[in-house]
Amino acid sequence: MLEIANLSKRYGETIALDDASVSFAAGTVHTIMGENGSGKSTLVKLLSGVVTPDRGQIRVDGVTFAGRNPAAFQAKGFATVFQEVLIAPDRNVIDNVLLGYDRPSHRNLPRAERRAAAGETLSRCSPTAVDLDVDAGRLPLATQQLVVLARALVRKPRILILDEVTAALDFNDRETVFSLIEGLARSGCLVLFISHRMDEVMRLSQRITILRSGRVVETIDRAAATPELLLERMAPEIVAERRHG
Ligand SMILES: Nc1ncnc2c1ncn2[C@@H]1O[C@H](COP(=O)(O)OP(=O)(O)OP(=O)(O)O)[C@@H](O)[C@H]1O
Ligand SMILES: [Mg+2]
Repeated sequence: MLEIANLSKRYGETIALDDASVSFAAGTVHTIMGENGSGKSTLVKLLSGVVTPDRGQIRVDGVTFAGRNPAAFQAKGFATVFQEVLIAPDRNVIDNVLLGYDRPSHRNLPRAERRAAAGETLSRCSPTAVDLDVDAGRLPLATQQLVVLARALVRKPRILILDEVTAALDFNDRETVFSLIEGLARSGCLVLFISHRMDEVMRLSQRITILRSGRVVETIDRAAATPELLLERMAPEIVAERRHG
């Protein structure tokens, strides 16, 4: 459903993403794994229209997609939860969930419908009820993250990109989010899941792409992956050191 071909992005001297080519299938959880600074968030930003590639192509359903800004990517069915928790602290939870969703067709949603849409979506993300009227900045960080996740889901994306979303979450939140991710994939959504945590990756993924220093090392089917193999691909020096030391 989604394909990147020879995608490259450089920041000054740093080659953040170097000639990356990967195919992603609908109805799968496809994990992007790699050490700090390996280019994961750069790929996420390229697939959200936040930054534009120096070279390479993004294809959706086999057709080159030349979106140049977040609105274009959203209209194409992409939704992203970024690594930094992007909350509007002085606006209530309903406004935060619906933030940026106020396209002309939704702008004048009646209050009751806004509340229902936000509440229903958030209840899928959070194991506990969240006060919809409180300013989001007053919520614990984990709850803020769930609000941002609900903001992505309310758009009913075909391609949902989650950059380290579980980092701030506790065990119960995490279980809820995992079930949600599995359900979305079953219903045909492509979930791009970025994580450091081996247990999550092994549990959720159908396919795993390893990045190292901005380069795609390999894309592996879950069935062929072991934690040892993934670690070896991500950080061969560390594995070699352990073996010899
Ligand atoms: N705006 C920027 N300006 C300069 N360099 C950047 C910028 N964004 C990323 N980089 C550099 O590009 C490389 C890849 O960064 P990126 O954020 O994509 O890594 P990452 O895999 O998401 O890392 P992490 O696991 O820490 O989130 C790093 O060397 C980083 O320092
Ligand atoms: Mg990152």
